[in-house]
Amino acid sequence: MGAVVRMRELRSSDGRLLVRATLGNVNWSGERFTLADLEATPELSHYFTAWPADREFGVVAENAHGLAPVGVAWARVFPADDPGYGFVDEVTPEVSVWVSLQRRGQGIGSDLMMQMIEQARERGFSQISLSVENGNPARRLYERLGFVPAGRDTQPGTLILRL
Ligand SMILES: CC(C)(COP(=O)(O)OP(=O)(O)OC[C@H]1O[C@@H](n2cnc3c(N)ncnc32)[C@H](O)[C@@H]1OP(=O)(O)O)[C@@H](O)C(=O)NCCC(=O)NCCS
Repeated sequence: MGAVVRMRELRSSDGRLLVRATLGNVNWSGERFTLADLEATPELSHYFTAWPADREFGVVAENAHGLAPVGVAWARVFPADDPGYGFVDEVTPEVSVWVSLQRRGQGIGSDLMMQMIEQARERGFSQISLSVENGNPARRLYERLGFVPAGRDTQPGTLILRL
C-alpha cells in the first residue's frame, strides 16, 4: 500500500518500457491500438524508437524495491519534418507521461512531471510541451503544474510550460 516509489534516470536499455507506456497512452480512453498498430505507425512509434537521441531525457518511477517500473516520463526532441502531436519547435522537448493502471491516482504522475520540469530547467531548455487529447483527465494534472495552451501553429491539445 502507499505510493512509495524510487525515481531513477531513464536509460537507453529502457526501450521496452517506452513501448509499454506509449501503448498505454494511446489507449488512455480504451483499446484503440494494438502493439502491431503502434509499430506500424511512425507518428506513434517515434515516441519510443531510437531512445535516447541527443538532448533527450527521462525519469522512471520504480516500486520501493527497485524491481519493477510503475511509471515513466520522457522527453523527445522531434525534428520539424517528423513532429510529435505536441510539437512546438525543434528546441522544445515534448514530454510524455504514463503510470501503470494499478498505481494511478497516487501522485506518481505528478512527481514524474515535477522531475521532468526540474530536469528541463537544469538542462537549459526554456520551455517544454505535451499533447493531451480532448476529454483526458490528465489535462487537470498538467494545468495544476502550470501548463497552458500553446496556441497558434500547433495541433489542438498542445500545452506548454515556460521555464
Ligand atoms: C495521466 C497519468 C500519467 C497521471 O498519473 P497519476 O499517477 O495517475 O497522476 P497523479 O496521481 O499524480 O494525479 C492524478 C491526476 O491525474 C489525472 N488522471 C488521469 N487519469 C487518471 C486515472 N486513471 N486515475 C487517476 N488520475 C488520473 C487526473 O487529472 C488526476 O487529477 P484530479 O485529481 O484532478 O482528477 C496516468 O493516470 C496515466 O498513465 N493515465 C493513462 C494514460 C494517459 O492518459 N497518459 C497521458 C496522456 S496525455
